[in-house]
Amino acid sequence: MERPQIVFVHPDGRRETHSVAAGETVMDCALDNGVAGIVAQCGGGCTCSTCHCYVDEPWLALLPEMVDDERALLEYVWEWRHDSRLSCQVFVTEALDGMVVRLPERQQ
Ligand code: FES
Repeated sequence: MERPQIVFVHPDGRRETHSVAAGETVMDCALDNGVAGIVAQCGGGCTCSTCHCYVDEPWLALLPEMVDDERALLEYVWEWRHDSRLSCQVFVTEALDGMVVRLPERQQ
């Protein structure tokens, strides 16, 4: 099976596409490929919120419900939007292949 691809869109419109194993997170994909804009200070522990990103439809609707910890941390991110997610909590599946993830202008 092919590895799902994630498309990262920078605030200036620049795009970069990277693959990741199903079961890993969007944060893993960003860190493995040096995607600027995902800081991920806590390394995926869901305690820092510096892995904030925006997820485009139709993929946003395919994601499982947020857990309470993610929802609580999202209250503190810079420029929260309805499509905000913490990338360390977004686990990639084959159904998410091609998912477009937008990076905020800054983390906090
Ligand atoms: S990496 Fe810290 S909350 Fe996601």
